[in-house]
Amino acid sequence: MKILLLGSGGREHALAWKITQSPLCTTLFIAPGNPGTALFGSNVSLSVNDFEGIKKLCLQEEIQMVVVGPEEPLVRGIYDFFQQDTALQDIQVIGPSQKGAQLEGSKAFAKEFMQKNNIPTASYREFNQDNFEEGLAYIRQHALPIVLKADGLAAGKGVVISETHEDALFHFTEMIQDKKFGEASATVVIEAFLTGIECSVFVLTDGKNYCLLPSAKDYKRIGEGDTGLNTGGMGAISPVPFMDETFLEKVKQQIILPTMKGIEQDNIIYKGFIFIGLIKVNNDPFVIEYNCRLGDPETEVILPRLESDLVELFAALHNGKLKDLDCVHSPLHAATMMLVSKGYPEDYEKGKLITHTNDITDSLVFHAGTVLKDNQLYTNGGRVIAVTSLANSLSEALACSAKNAATIQYEGKYYRKDIGWEFD
Ligand code: AMP
Ligand code: GLY
Repeated sequence: MKILLLGSGGREHALAWKITQSPLCTTLFIAPGNPGTALFGSNVSLSVNDFEGIKKLCLQEEIQMVVVGPEEPLVRGIYDFFQQDTALQDIQVIGPSQKGAQLEGSKAFAKEFMQKNNIPTASYREFNQDNFEEGLAYIRQHALPIVLKADGLAAGKGVVISETHEDALFHFTEMIQDKKFGEASATVVIEAFLTGIECSVFVLTDGKNYCLLPSAKDYKRIGEGDTGLNTGGMGAISPVPFMDETFLEKVKQQIILPTMKGIEQDNIIYKGFIFIGLIKVNNDPFVIEYNCRLGDPETEVILPRLESDLVELFAALHNGKLKDLDCVHSPLHAATMMLVSKGYPEDYEKGKLITHTNDITDSLVFHAGTVLKDNQLYTNGGRVIAVTSLANSLSEALACSAKNAATIQYEGKYYRKDIGWEFD
């Protein structure tokens, strides 16, 4: 099978690594890819949102399956674009329809979906320009802290947690009246703050059946001890020590099954991943967010622990065979540490020479923001490289990633050395 993978991060390097382990994959193209994905297939210089360019490539190369890494093309309707074109409709797109992608693309849609399906989540209300004054009054009487979420995609910056009413009123006004995130903040969800520990579950679904992938916990803050600004993710571990069978059964009964039922009842076409961000409050799971894709860097720990053939699972989403397949998880522990550029997640430096990646033999090195020039590797993004290790215990996996994260060199390298240590 000829497969096209869309995206260019560490997640896509891990996907390319896993996809090409399948005997079902004969050729892999990655658009636009990175120097890591180029080790597994042909990178094609195309934006993930250039649907016409993607169409041309698919027809020219006789692509049979398109695996969508990031959320933006899904929220923009790439699944529907393929379905509506007679020349493309037989190509298997791995991802939800535009309506399904609203679970990530619109926080208000996701909250309404959860409420309708009795899925535990923080209480909320949504506001826009029409009921702006009501929103101000709602904030003034709301318990603190208070959580504000821009409805649409805002490059991971659309959530504000305010410790004071004044701060919340300021951000609320900035989002709705000053259009801080444009259309994405025309509607704002205000929700109660939940106190607990975060973790994530991932399912692969055909819209009716699902299989559970390994769960993971990521570390979003830039600073050690979970301090400082939010990032795309500074590291991840899998499995998550506190996600035992009892907790996972609650997640299944209270969250996954009602989510599947809601998707079916609303006639949502969904042939892809659902990434459910959870918070464990006392011993109960609540949904913080849905994403319509895999996480980054969660993918860098999930896929190394997935023993099943990923392409066989993907194909099963389209041929009705998902219920007959097993999703086998490795008993090993995986840990990844993300090496980032100086300044990240704010303005960061690029173009720094990266050395010693080839010295690493006992970890997986997944490229995120790198570029090759004259056969030399340079930094080219905020998140540069994820170093993933697999071992019999979490502490061994962490120690191995820490050792190899120290080996890779470039000017301004930064990484969190405390990933997963609270469980160690
Ligand atoms: P989101 O973009 O929805 O994942 O939100 C970003 C981060 O904000 C989450 O990973 C949580 O750490 C935090 N967060 C979001 N909603 C809540 C909530 N209701 N209570 C506590 N923390 C939250
Ligand atoms: N690591 C969080 C995300 O991919 O959304």
